[in-house]
Amino acid sequence: MAMSVTTNAFLRPLHQLQFPKYPRLSSKSHLRPRLLRSLNQRAIRAISEVATDSELYMQQDQAIEANIFSCPICYEPLIRKGPSGLNLSAIYRSGFMCKRCKKSYSSKDRYLDLTVTAGLRDYTEIQPARTELFRSPLVSFLYERGWRQNFRQSGFPGPDEEFKMAQEYFESAKGGLLVDVSCGSGLFSRKFAKSGIYSGVIALDFSENMLRQCYDFIKKDDTLSKTNIALVRADVSRLPFSSGSVDAVHAGAALHCWPSPSNAVAEITRILKSGGIFVGSTFLRYSSLTPWFVRPFRERTPQGYGYLTEEEIKDLCTSCGLTNYSSKIQQAFIMFKAQKP
Ligand SMILES: C[S@@+](CC[C@H](N)C(=O)[O-])C[C@H]1O[C@@H](n2cnc3c(N)ncnc32)[C@H](O)[C@@H]1O
Repeated sequence: MAMSVTTNAFLRPLHQLQFPKYPRLSSKSHLRPRLLRSLNQRAIRAISEVATDSELYMQQDQAIEANIFSCPICYEPLIRKGPSGLNLSAIYRSGFMCKRCKKSYSSKDRYLDLTVTAGLRDYTEIQPARTELFRSPLVSFLYERGWRQNFRQSGFPGPDEEFKMAQEYFESAKGGLLVDVSCGSGLFSRKFAKSGIYSGVIALDFSENMLRQCYDFIKKDDTLSKTNIALVRADVSRLPFSSGSVDAVHAGAALHCWPSPSNAVAEITRILKSGGIFVGSTFLRYSSLTPWFVRPFRERTPQGYGYLTEEEIKDLCTSCGLTNYSSKIQQAFIMFKAQKP
């Protein structure tokens, strides 16, 4: 029989299932019978909706659990069905469903799509050029094959040194969950995962092609494919995590690519736990080498990318309630750190 004991658990009434994070739904629940009946009906309906999404549910090691991922529409934690664990194959073989709005999410092309538009048939969202550029297969392919190396000309110290700097900033987040927002092809996500310092690493980007590249890089590296790393497609302005659930957020060379840096920083602040750390790097609008008489023109010239000044970045972080801001600057490169109080 393909159905395992744990699979049969799906057929049990909801109040008999164990939801460690939702003690109200445990077998000792004091919920009234009518409410329980309605929850059971909803669960059965929801489970069958998820089940039709994929035949992958015939796995032996199925489990249902409240998850670290949340619905990008209502921020309710997603219920997961499938093998547990935060690694590529377990996530790929799992289906996710929002308890509240009943929308289901599953993996597509190797990454879990948690955008609001996931699964839509007709509507396609076109983002500003600075986001769309990185959705291109060519740019995604070239990114770690020459594109990023060019950043050195603007003062970026290079991946190894940037990783070291970020690790120093993340000192107090060790052992926690790290989300590498706008990870691109996973240059830093892979380093964070390899370090073994975090309980889990979520490599998150809006670009499908960047995530495919990321998957290929991980697959080529035997030491990585079994580690706690997950690939998620999401918009930085709508992060699929519950409020106060993440220990560290990294966003390398990304702020200038975001459609709304203020929405993004607000969203990052929302998902951070108290004491959680946000580390970002980007290009400054001008460097110390930019002549003073050129600077006012830079301020007013509409640019493809949204380059900010150091003061604007600090202002953004503090206006969202982040504290302990500090930064390191080299020409147009800035790496900054801020903490959720
Ligand atoms: C220059 S790359 C940075 C990649 C990598 N973090 C690094 O340090 O090299 C910027 C990334 O931001 C992503 N991005 C742009 N708009 C985004 C959005 N709205 N939500 C999430 N990621 C976005 C792009 O897809 C791209 O992969």
